[in-house]
Amino acid sequence: MSGYQLLRQLDEHQISQLHDLYSRQWWTSERTLADIKKMLASSDLLFAYWDKQMDKLAAFARVLTDHVYRAIIFDVIVDEDLRGSGLGKKLMNDIIDETSHIERVELYCKEDKIAFYEKLGFATLPTTLLMRKG
Ligand SMILES: CC(C)(COP(=O)(O)OP(=O)(O)OC[C@H]1O[C@@H](n2cnc3c(N)ncnc32)[C@H](O)[C@@H]1OP(=O)(O)O)[C@@H](O)C(=O)NCCC(=O)NCCS
Repeated sequence: MSGYQLLRQLDEHQISQLHDLYSRQWWTSERTLADIKKMLASSDLLFAYWDKQMDKLAAFARVLTDHVYRAIIFDVIVDEDLRGSGLGKKLMNDIIDETSHIERVELYCKEDKIAFYEKLGFATLPTTLLMRKG
C-alpha cells in the first residue's frame, strides 16, 4: 500500500492517464481530454494515487463541495489491475477525513457497489429520490 503518492492536482501526463482510466469505465468512457481538463480545473477536491516507480495513475476520485453543507463524491476509480488490495478503501478514507467537517457527504452508487460504501459508513436513503433535468 505504501509507495503511492497522494496527488491533489494532475500534470498533463497524469491527466492523459486519467483520460485512459475514464475510457474504460461505463459512465466516463465518452469523456474527451479537453472536457476532462475543464472538469479538473473546476472540481473542488481531487484525490489521485500516483505510483512514481511504475509511472502509473493507480486510483482517482473527485469531490464537488461548498465546504460547509454539502459534498458529493464523483468518479471513484481504482485501476483494474490494482483492485481488491485495499486501495479503494484507502482513497475513500482520505476523502472521508478531509470532508469530515461537512454536514452531508454523498455519492451516486449502483447496486453492486453498495456493500463497498456501506463498509465505509455510507447508507442508502430510501426516502430520497434523485431527479435529473431531461
Ligand atoms: C469500487 C472500487 C473503487 C473498489 O476499489 P478496490 O480497491 O477494489 O476496493 P478495496 O480493495 O479497497 O475494498 C475495500 C473493501 O470493500 C470490499 N469491496 C470492494 N468492492 C466491492 C464490491 N463491489 N462489493 C462489495 N464489497 C466490495 C472489499 O472486499 C474490501 O472489504 P474488506 O475491507 O472487508 O476487506 C473498484 O472496484 C473500482 O474502481 N470499480 C470500478 C469503478 C466503479 O464502479 N467505481 C464506483 C463508482 S460508484
